[in-house]
Amino acid sequence: MDVKELVSKMTLEEKASLLSGSDFWHTQAIERLGLEEFMMCDGPNGLRKQEGESDHLGLHGSISTVCYPTASTVASTFDEELAEKLGETLGKECVREDVSMLLGPGLNMKRSPVCGRNFEYYSEDPYLAGKIAAAYIRGVQSQGVAACPKHFAANNQEYRRMSGNSTVDERTLHEVYLTAFEMAVKEGKPKSIMCSYNRLNGTYLSENKYMLTDVLRDKWGFDGFVVTDWGAGKGPKEGVEAGLDLVMPGPNDDTPKAIVEAVKAGELDEAKVDRAVTNILEVFNWTKENRPTDPPRSSDDTRKEDYKVALEIALAGAVLLKNTRRALPIREDRKVLFVGEFAKKPRIQGSGSSHINSAYVSNAYDFAKDRDISFVQGYNTKEPELDYKLRDEAVNAARDVDEIVIFAGLPGSYESEGFDRKDINLPTGQDKLIDELAHLGKRTVVVMHNGAPVAMPWIDSVDAVIDMQLTGDAAGEAAVKLLWGEANPCGKLAESYPVKLSDNPSFLNFPGDSGNPVYAEGIYIGYRYYEKKRMQVLFPFGHGLSYSEFEYSNVKLDKESITDKESAVVSVDVWNVGRYKGSEIVQLYVSADKPKVSRPLKELKGFKKITLEPGQKVTVSFTLDKRSFAYYSEKIHDFYVESGDYTVMIGAASNDIRHAKKIEVEGTETIPLNVDLTTAIVDILDTRKGQEILGPVLKKSMEERSKSGSANDDALGEGGAEMFENMVMEMPIGTLASFGMMEMEEVMALIDKLNS
Ligand code: BGC
Repeated sequence: MDVKELVSKMTLEEKASLLSGSDFWHTQAIERLGLEEFMMCDGPNGLRKQEGESDHLGLHGSISTVCYPTASTVASTFDEELAEKLGETLGKECVREDVSMLLGPGLNMKRSPVCGRNFEYYSEDPYLAGKIAAAYIRGVQSQGVAACPKHFAANNQEYRRMSGNSTVDERTLHEVYLTAFEMAVKEGKPKSIMCSYNRLNGTYLSENKYMLTDVLRDKWGFDGFVVTDWGAGKGPKEGVEAGLDLVMPGPNDDTPKAIVEAVKAGELDEAKVDRAVTNILEVFNWTKENRPTDPPRSSDDTRKEDYKVALEIALAGAVLLKNTRRALPIREDRKVLFVGEFAKKPRIQGSGSSHINSAYVSNAYDFAKDRDISFVQGYNTKEPELDYKLRDEAVNAARDVDEIVIFAGLPGSYESEGFDRKDINLPTGQDKLIDELAHLGKRTVVVMHNGAPVAMPWIDSVDAVIDMQLTGDAAGEAAVKLLWGEANPCGKLAESYPVKLSDNPSFLNFPGDSGNPVYAEGIYIGYRYYEKKRMQVLFPFGHGLSYSEFEYSNVKLDKESITDKESAVVSVDVWNVGRYKGSEIVQLYVSADKPKVSRPLKELKGFKKITLEPGQKVTVSFTLDKRSFAYYSEKIHDFYVESGDYTVMIGAASNDIRHAKKIEVEGTETIPLNVDLTTAIVDILDTRKGQEILGPVLKKSMEERSKSGSANDDALGEGGAEMFENMVMEMPIGTLASFGMMEMEEVMALIDKLNS
């Protein structure tokens, strides 16, 4: 269909009707013009298609299908190919089920470990989240199904998520909270994006022109349509004005009515309505043109194939946090006791709109049946306190085995959309049970099921911990394969596990008074904060062990210095020196040596997953470009590279840097000066132009002062000369005249020259 022509044929009422849903999951059909409805369904870790009566809170069931690992687990794979494969698999399922748009991925930053929806999000690191999201989007859209990254933006808690106001400064917003969305838009080219419920710096996202138009479209080049989160629409006219296209869900006669009235009253330009309608229709067109025709319907066979993808991701996303006393992999001749309800009924996903109606879930007990295992329940997920009867049963059963494997984790009611966790603790009964079993002198392994970090007060007493996270349907099969070494763990943590919740940088401002959080910790999210404060964490970002070992050597940078318009390549040899075939995730971090603004000590700027046979060695390389060195400058409202030396670090985790190299970078052209009498001298001298113009004049004036005896140690006491120099550097340029160091005319002439 020719969208322009179609829009020209539509009445104002028809156009307005297209800007809000016809029901929970569909847009309005316009029969007169042959325009069909367009169906969208929740993801992101499966297809949540509701048939019959619909709602998004799970009151009504959805089709029975495959549940994949949640986003938190997908991110731990650090594997863009796998994320793309997941997207592609979901895209295919959408095609089979006649769904045109999948509401995902979720990619909000993990500001606090207790945000109820963290399982649905990728990481505390914007680069990792952005890369994985872009890959997932490419996968979904390879099938002609629109992806819809969400929730845009600064929606990092559930408490009062529909009304809260996130106060975030410009640098933090762009450098931390928008970067993943920016990467998703630029590298994934999603056909849609979902704006969140909350307000950002006072304005609801659904009415936020800065975000929906200036940033999203004008800066990043987004060309799809913007849809509200379900129920996030506010003023219909204000929405259209700001760059919103579709309000969901419907039916809601008020929205089209208000739009028609606003246009008729001359309060809303009809061209803006046309723009929104065009954005939506272009995407409809795109899905029609790009979708395979006559796809097979979903069947047991397709589900089996999809399950294999779920298994592959579950295996790749599991993180081996600790492994001592050769507890893992379990030797075939060992007698093993499985403890814990999750061994038979694993926790596989979070609650809320992402909840999938699984056709089949594998459990570890069934998968390990052929081995020498026994099982006791250990705890009851409905009861947080220690159950003494179940504890005694576990302790007794543990006496005649070689190894105890405790399947522990957060009960389903702990992690959900709609509310945040109160703390990062496991139910106390589980903590006590693990601790007691760990003191029986047997090898003790803990298999965790959790969508976000938990505290592990027993960590020093157990021999091994494997963090399965939330694995989807293949939970049990994946756990057994990893425990007995049929698969080698290779996931790495996509977020830091703090020792305790109060260590988290957002702790004092989460969830904010009346749900209005102030992001006072600024850019210091996750490991950016823990590293800078040199704080101990339980497990750091990027951490994850393998049954094999990898050595890093021969780090090379192809250039010693570059400008911010050039790129450099850093390479490293990685060698599997262990006995098992395994995968390693090589990480690249960058830091500025002497930054003039506050910067983290490390920022992830690259990662690569490689798979090596024992004894095999490969060279891994990364390209460093402008964004590898840049920070967001509020002066130029853009990313900016400061000239200077940078350290390029390659390692196996954020706290396990194996090699580092220096590179000199000539930064971004000088920030345009906008000097007046109040501009600090130090800020002027920070720029090349400032150094050239003000530098020599100032030097001369200071020398004269010093010679005249009024600004040296004799006159001002010990350290007097330094005190004088510091004072001059930090004072506004106008003060040069008040202090008699220059005439006012001279100062004004300098200002003119600096601004010219
Ligand atoms: C959630 C979205 C979801 C939508 C539709 C909202 O409450 O925040 O993530 O896509 O409902 O179910």
